Amino acid sequence: MNSESLPAQNKRVVNYLRLSITDRCNLRCIYCMPEEGISFVPHDEILSYEEMLHLVRLATQCGIRKVRLTGGEPLVRKGFIDFLENLSNITELKEISLTTNGVLLKHFAADIKKCGIGRINISLDSLRPERFFKITGRNVFKKVHEGIREAERLGFDPIKINMVAMKGINDDEILDFARLTLKKPYHVRFIEFMPVGKENGWSPERFISTGEILAKIQQLGDLQPIEQNTLLDGPARRYRLEGAKGEIGLIGALSDHFCDQCNRMRLTAEGHLRGCLFSDKEIDIKTPLREKRPDSEIIGLMKLAIKNKPKSHGLFKSGPRKCVRPMTTIGG
Ligand code: 5AD
Ligand code: SF4
Repeated sequence: MNSESLPAQNKRVVNYLRLSITDRCNLRCIYCMPEEGISFVPHDEILSYEEMLHLVRLATQCGIRKVRLTGGEPLVRKGFIDFLENLSNITELKEISLTTNGVLLKHFAADIKKCGIGRINISLDSLRPERFFKITGRNVFKKVHEGIREAERLGFDPIKINMVAMKGINDDEILDFARLTLKKPYHVRFIEFMPVGKENGWSPERFISTGEILAKIQQLGDLQPIEQNTLLDGPARRYRLEGAKGEIGLIGALSDHFCDQCNRMRLTAEGHLRGCLFSDKEIDIKTPLREKRPDSEIIGLMKLAIKNKPKSHGLFKSGPRKCVRPMTTIGG
């Protein structure tokens, strides 16, 4: 069965679902998962793969055409590749992609590719092994580097490298990341540091806007704008340095008010549908699913969540209002 995408408020069309398949992770990034003080969701509270597949099938009946798998770290969940294969058999989906921290990528890249997934996002906040260790709490820069190389060797295209820019932490590497695009076909994307989770180290002093990032990168030369494809690129503003193999993307999660074009919903690892990263309003889908409510009822809840998707995050109206739920269960 096929159906048109549904309008949310502001006449936005929602066709993109981000699915957090686990809240577990093998890193402890300072802005996401502090070494102490993160309580994981108990296993039986997390959706099973079967439940997720069922919900994605129903979501396609609400207009979802693209799914991104996130975490935590998706590659740490057992059985991931089988799940991916089953997901890739859902013909209504036009696009499946994956966000990973890259630590296990070298091992899994070939199997991921075999499932027909060709696009990959890798989170990487420093190109310096020691600093990487400081930011992530794990001394595994080399593994991530090998994972990226393996993805390149296997022909993943694009390979997006997501860098969360933080003042005083890694902003002195912005030019190094931008330069990477000169020689490598990577899409390096600079993401504004967001106040997500109860305490994630966010402060105005740590924040660097995409405007400032762009100004820095312009030291390297002219940036030619590249046209956006909303379904595939989401909110990134894309540029290319002259003669570069790769490209640069800027994601102004806070400063750029792209809420009016936002096409995404999020399904948390414990089965709640969420319309906005920054709003803790969620609809529990897991409970009716486990109560064996009819599909029509669950589709009805999904449509309601889409319809009620907040118009905007409103972050700069009231000062940054942090969402309380940790990033690991929402999946970025
Ligand atoms: N601000 C910006 N990006 C974040 N991510 C996680 N937490 C934050 C935050 N507070 C990013 C990760 C990854 C993606 C899933 O979300 O680095 O690239
Ligand atoms: Fe893991 Fe990503 Fe959180 Fe880092 S940001 S701890 S890689 S889930």
